[in-house]
Amino acid sequence: MSKLRYLGQSCFLLRTQEGELLFDPYLSKSPHHVSLPEDANPSYIFVSHGHADHVGDTVELAGKFGSTVITTAEMGRYLEGLGCSKVERMHIGGGADFPFGRVKITPALHGCGIPGGVACGFLVKTAGITIYFAGDTGLFGDMSLLGMYHRIDYALLPIGDRFTMGPEDAVIAAQMLKARYVIPMHYNANALTRQDPELFAGQIAKATGSRAIVMKPNEEISLVPSGEEKCE
Ligand code: NI
Ligand code: MN
Repeated sequence: MSKLRYLGQSCFLLRTQEGELLFDPYLSKSPHHVSLPEDANPSYIFVSHGHADHVGDTVELAGKFGSTVITTAEMGRYLEGLGCSKVERMHIGGGADFPFGRVKITPALHGCGIPGGVACGFLVKTAGITIYFAGDTGLFGDMSLLGMYHRIDYALLPIGDRFTMGPEDAVIAAQMLKARYVIPMHYNANALTRQDPELFAGQIAKATGSRAIVMKPNEEISLVPSGEEKCE
């Protein structure tokens, strides 16, 4: 059974029989006071862009676990310069196959935090599940293409406002993405991104065909592959 653990801000640990994938590992400096579970052993680390609340502990963790970093070309070079020895560089719109499944890099409307770089999101297909990790982004209309051409099971969307989409735009994103489930992220790390995720969940239920799952930092859920959903 695949499990997804929320580690605050935009950090998630996805554990499946295909391996462990870690997204935007902002941990040691996170105000959410979270850490990886003792038995975690991420073989891949996804980095959406260079802001500190996303790169986080990438260099340390990649060294400790021997993880391969998946990111954009510029971020990849930057992280290699900081000591990451295994980096898979990709870019917007490109897909690639890995032992755990397939990754496509999606656009994100946001800064990168390093000169010449761009921010991105990830569409990951692994263990029978399709996850869209939006990264830090504003709303953009091409999300409808993702919804049209991919059956997204879980969409991880920022709702913090100020630096990314706020809840209202994230509802519009959910309408376009048509994911089975929407998981809000990137909120309540500080006073500038204060949001009520339960209010957002209610709006998702009212305005979209998706269901929101509000995860507390350190909470883990079991993921349901699309074919195995119970009728209700
Ligand atoms: Ni950012
Ligand atoms: Mn951020």
